[in-house]
Amino acid sequence: MKFFVDTAEIDAIAELNDLGMVDGVTTNPSLIMKSGRDILEVTKEICDLVDGPVSAEVVATEADAMIAEGRKLAEIAPNITVKVPLTWDGLKACKVLSGEGKMVNVTLCFSANQALLAAKAGATFISPFIGRLDDIALDGLELIDDIRTIYDNYGFETEILAASIRSANHVQDCARIGADVITAPPAVIKSLASHPLTDKGLAAFLADWEKTGQKIL
Ligand code: E4P
Repeated sequence: MKFFVDTAEIDAIAELNDLGMVDGVTTNPSLIMKSGRDILEVTKEICDLVDGPVSAEVVATEADAMIAEGRKLAEIAPNITVKVPLTWDGLKACKVLSGEGKMVNVTLCFSANQALLAAKAGATFISPFIGRLDDIALDGLELIDDIRTIYDNYGFETEILAASIRSANHVQDCARIGADVITAPPAVIKSLASHPLTDKGLAAFLADWEKTGQKIL
C-alpha cells in the first residue's frame, strides 16, 4: 500500500520522505490556506522534493475553467496530479485532462456510484473521504470496501486513494480492505509507530540496563 502525505508543510513532508515513507502528496485549498504559501510556489517545492504524484486541486467549478486550471497546474512539474471535485463538471474535466495524459485525482467522493463514474471518466485516483463520512455517523470503511469490490469486478485501473484518514485504525482497516493508497496527515503516519506496550517494554529494559552500570559506547 502506498502512503501519501496530506499536507502542504514542506518540513513535515521532508522528514517523512527521508525515511522512505512518502509515495506521494495530496493538498487541497484548505491545506494551502493553512500553509500560508502561494499555491504555485509551494506545490513546485513539494514536486521537487518528492518523486511520486503530488495532487494540486483546481478551484473553478465549471468544466472549461477546471480544465484550464488543471493544465496550468500540470505545468508545475511532471509529477503533478490534477485534483478535481466529484461533480458532473469535475468528471468532464477528468475525462479531458486524463485524455491528455495527465494524472487526475477525483476528490470529495462519498458514494460507490460516484467512484464508478470517476473510473469511467479515466481517473488515475479516486479519493473517498472516510473521516467525513464517520463524522456524520456513516461508515467510511464500508465505502472503501464497496469501491474495492466494484473496481475488482470490472477491472478498473483507477487507484483507490483513501482520504480523510483520522487515525491509525483507519490506516490498518484500509490496508486490510485493499485500498491502493492512503493519504493521511503527518501526525497520523507517525502515530503508526506508537504502541503503549512498546513504551512500557522499553522503559523496563532501560531501567534494568541502568542497574548493570554498563555502557555500549
Ligand atoms: C484528501 O485529498 C483530502 O485533502 C483530505 O484527506 C481531507 O481530509 P479531512 O477530511 O481530514 O480534511
